[in-house]
Amino acid sequence: MTLPPFFSYASSSLNCESVALSQVADQFGTPSYVYSKAAITEAMSAYLNALGDHPGMICYAVKANSNLAVLQLLAKLGAGFDIVSAGELARVLAAGGRADKVVFSGVAKKREEMVAALEAGIHCFNVESVAELELLAEVAQELGKEAPVSLRVNPDVDAKTHPYISTGLAENKFGISMEHAYQAYAFVHATEGLRVIGIDCHIGSQLTELAPFKDALDRVLDLVDRLREAGIVLEHVDAGGGLGVRYKDETPPDITDYVRALKGPLAARGLGLMLEPGRSIVANAGTLITQVDFLKTTEKHNFALVDAAMNDLLRPALYQAWMDIKPLEVNSDVTEKAWNIVGPVCETGDFLGKDRRLALSAGDRLAVLGAGAYGFVMASNYNTRPRAAEIMIDGDQMHLVRERETVADLFKHEHLL
Ligand code: LLP
Repeated sequence: MTLPPFFSYASSSLNCESVALSQVADQFGTPSYVYSKAAITEAMSAYLNALGDHPGMICYAVKANSNLAVLQLLAKLGAGFDIVSAGELARVLAAGGRADKVVFSGVAKKREEMVAALEAGIHCFNVESVAELELLAEVAQELGKEAPVSLRVNPDVDAKTHPYISTGLAENKFGISMEHAYQAYAFVHATEGLRVIGIDCHIGSQLTELAPFKDALDRVLDLVDRLREAGIVLEHVDAGGGLGVRYKDETPPDITDYVRALKGPLAARGLGLMLEPGRSIVANAGTLITQVDFLKTTEKHNFALVDAAMNDLLRPALYQAWMDIKPLEVNSDVTEKAWNIVGPVCETGDFLGKDRRLALSAGDRLAVLGAGAYGFVMASNYNTRPRAAEIMIDGDQMHLVRERETVADLFKHEHLL
């Protein structure tokens, strides 16, 4: 496994851009999430350049990493945002993002969330059921507004990814089936308070091949053509997110090829392209740094007990995700062995990596790579563990973009009887 761009060893120290990660650990402690500004910028720019002057938007999926500084950076670069809650909308606005560049996804939006989004003036609601359409129409009518709508269809395509992050199969809870979509469009078209502007789908995450994206788009375009014949003309197709990244040896298509493959068939139809990428913008821009507190050898395994745990980074425990683990300083005092890198949480599922060949002594520090997406955002306070700090690196500068929680923060909303 090679290192992601903007991470490199300078002599024996692992750097993010021009800063040694051991310096970040000294200054801010561990566990901490560290992000490369240049890596986020490069990935976002690749999307924007590939879209070029084709009408549409790159709406970063806020759920992947919602730190305000990350959103601020992306907003400045020209990103739109894909949100799934009123909370994410508030973050986007607080970070300087524009409401009219926001699309609101999610399988079940609440009335208050619809109100907040209508009042802010978002670009589009991605709606997933007729029941949701009925509520949205009611809310829009009450406010005297018109809600711009795209229907999320479920194209029934196998994304060939982990079952927990596959969303475009008929058996999943997401979207409106192709059979019912036509009727649902007729309903939107005929209902006061709703205005049809697009169609969307999102078939899953961490896809490493183009074929499922193309199949899904073909199916969506069949429906677009049928709707047009019926006089319902759409402005855009939102192909969702889902482009995979390299964690180990995956070979996902690059951003440019992916965007080109999708915008090609839309150009002829005069349709705009919207995308909702999350992971492919931030995953490999981030790392979780942690310290080895103890080494423990049993009959079966060598365990390195580190100060980051499943509450900080859930992906290995939840999806058996493999994420690379590298030392912040190369340790040449001891020989390499196979280690299980585990946290202090009281669960056997609490591991960051298994069977990793590393030369380790207690006190060494490690980086879990590819942790910029679905890392901090999925952190919890399980075992009353304060959530980690977040630091953004910009060249040779370190910026603390989220302070480490304190224990007092954790029970400040609780009351004794
Ligand atoms: N749009 C919609 C409607 C989504 O549900 C998602 C992700 C995205 C866009 C962004 O997908 P991306 O480009 O990041 O693949 N926690 C899991 C991933 C869950 C993805 C959920 N939806 C993980 O750690 O692998």
